[in-house]
Amino acid sequence: MIEIKNIKKSFGEKTILQDISAVMEAGKCNLIIGASGSGKTVLTKCMVGLFKPDEGEIIYDKQNMLSMSDDERKQLRQQIGMLFQGSALFDSMTVEQNVMFPLDMFSNLSYKDRKKKADEVLDKVALKEAHKKFPAEISGGMKKRVGIARAIVLNPKYLFCDEPNSGLDPQTSLLIDKLIKDITTEYKITTTVITHDMNSVMEIGDHIVYMHQGKKQWEGSNKDIIYSKDKLLNDFIFASDFLQDAKEMRMMQEKGEIEKNDERL
Ligand SMILES: Nc1ncnc2c1ncn2[C@@H]1O[C@H](COP(=O)(O)OP(=O)(O)O)[C@@H](O)[C@H]1O
Ligand SMILES: [Mg+2]
Repeated sequence: MIEIKNIKKSFGEKTILQDISAVMEAGKCNLIIGASGSGKTVLTKCMVGLFKPDEGEIIYDKQNMLSMSDDERKQLRQQIGMLFQGSALFDSMTVEQNVMFPLDMFSNLSYKDRKKKADEVLDKVALKEAHKKFPAEISGGMKKRVGIARAIVLNPKYLFCDEPNSGLDPQTSLLIDKLIKDITTEYKITTTVITHDMNSVMEIGDHIVYMHQGKKQWEGSNKDIIYSKDKLLNDFIFASDFLQDAKEMRMMQEKGEIEKNDERL
C-alpha cells in the first residue's frame, strides 16, 4: 500500500498540489483521474521521488520515502516500475535492448539470463515477434507494450503508468488496460494508472482518486462512482447528457425501481 499524507507542492508562486491525502491499495489497480492540468503528473512524480513535495509524507508499506536515507531510497526506487507518457523508448535500441536496459543497469545477471528475462516479459505482453525491431518500426500500441515490459522487467512491487492510453484507438486502449490489469493481478503489483479515459475507470479501476485543480476531490471504488453525489466528479465522469441518463437508469435499476429488461435501458 502507498499512503500519501498532506502533500503540498508549489512551483514558485504557483501552488500545484494542495494538501493531498490518498491511498493506493496494495495489489490493486488504482487510478488517478482528473482534467488536464489538475496535477496528476506532478502528484505521481512526487510519489516516485522525481519531485520533492514541500510538505507531507509518502509512505510505501510503512516506510516514509521522504525521510529515508539515500541508500534506502535507491532500494525503493528499484521496486518501482514506470511507464512514462509517450513510452519514452530509446530509438537507437531494439525492442529487446530497450527491455534489457534496466537489467543492464541494475542487475548482476549474465547476458544470457538478462536476455531470457527480457524475452519472458516480452512474451507476457505478446510481443514475441518484435524483438529485433526498432521503436520507429512498430505501432503506438506495441510501443506501449514495450514500455510496460520494460517497466516490469525488474519485478517491481509498485507500477506507475502515466496516461497509458494517450494516442491510442479505443480498441488498443482496451487491450493495454487489460494487460495492465492482468499484470497487476498476476504479479500482485500495487499499480497506479493516471488516466482521463473513462472506459479505463470503469474497466480496470479498483480504487479511484479524482483530482480537481490541485486538490483531491473524491476517492472511492468504481462502483461508488455510480452512486456518488459529488457534482464535480459527476460532471467529469458523466460529461454528456447521455451518460448522465445512463447513470440515473443504472441507479434506479440497482434500487429495484425499474426492471433489468425495462425498455428504457
Ligand atoms: N516542472 C514544472 N514547473 C512548473 N510548473 C509545472 C511543472 N510541471 C507541471 N507544472 C504545472 O503544474 C500543473 C499541473 O500539471 P500536471 O501535473 O502535469 O497536470 P496533469 O498531469 O493533471 O495534466 C500545471 O499547471 C502545470 O503547468
Ligand atoms: Mg499529466
